[in-house]
Amino acid sequence: MFETIQWTPDGVVMIDQTRLPLEEKYVTCRTYQEVAAAIRDMIIRGAPAIGVAAAMGVALGALHAGEADFDRQFETICDTLAATRPTAVNLFWAIERMKRLYLSLRGRPGDEIRRALVEEAQRIRGEDIEICRAIGRNGAGLVPDGKTVLTHCNAGALATAGYGTALGVIRAAVECGKRLDVFADETRPFLQGARLTVWELDQDGIASTLITDNMAGHFLKSGRIGCVVVGADRIAANGDVANKIGTYSVAVLARENGVPFYVAAPISTLDLTLASGDRIPIEQRAASEVTHILGRQVAPTGIPAENPAFDVTPARYVTAIVTERGVARPPYEESLRELVHRL
Ligand code: MRU
Repeated sequence: MFETIQWTPDGVVMIDQTRLPLEEKYVTCRTYQEVAAAIRDMIIRGAPAIGVAAAMGVALGALHAGEADFDRQFETICDTLAATRPTAVNLFWAIERMKRLYLSLRGRPGDEIRRALVEEAQRIRGEDIEICRAIGRNGAGLVPDGKTVLTHCNAGALATAGYGTALGVIRAAVECGKRLDVFADETRPFLQGARLTVWELDQDGIASTLITDNMAGHFLKSGRIGCVVVGADRIAANGDVANKIGTYSVAVLARENGVPFYVAAPISTLDLTLASGDRIPIEQRAASEVTHILGRQVAPTGIPAENPAFDVTPARYVTAIVTERGVARPPYEESLRELVHRL
């Protein structure tokens, strides 16, 4: 089985998600700048995975920073990693956690601080796998037996430190003995569904079928789909969900056809400082990702193209939000706050 991200004596090792599924190659980031570039270029992607990567980037930066002016260097490391991608809140959550640890250790010997930061980054990775397993356990019961589950983008082991959020729910349902088919939207323009989700499920022996994004409505209407399960990049206090572009259309079509729409995400994806999804920053990526597919031009030269990487699904379309602490249902202002404060 592949490893999404690992801390090794050589540096931070990640499976290169830009090359999958045709090549299974690992890259080693030896500096925090290389980790930042890997996040920006989507060698690693998916909200929890980029949180783990950012934490490891902070640790790597601290490890190589000299004693002089350590405070300022630490700030630069954190700022560089925070500037990589704007939407997934797990990135900022992980950097804040590393900063808090650093502040609590200020004045201690440099080596002790560096060791503690490395251990914390590894702890964040280990916890993420446990959190995904708990999300899976909490969500498995929602998945109807003998039906097809539709998912969008990749919210699997590749998008986390392992096991996955939306795919964690699917994995846990299969482990419980449910017989499922998975439909994966191809997820234009970056093709996370086509390149990553069906590859990852195949590695696990879970049968999946690839569909193009514009087929989702047709299959949701057909009665074959028992539920939709997706991940999230940021969830506002009212339950609005930012996730991969196209998620909103799937949610509306699911509601229109009476199909439950579930979001699976860790508590670290909640951003209760935002009252609604209107204020979630949406990353705009290069037009060339739309005008080209895998480097091959598919549109007339010079044609303008838009490329918002995420959209926001209003909470009214979300049947439930599955977290490691339990399942939140509307009204989300209350249920999400209750989960955050639950120990
Ligand atoms: O642009 P990406 O590939 O980082 O977007 C990923 C998603 O939108 C995922 O659905 C989300 O991060 C949840 S991953 C568990």
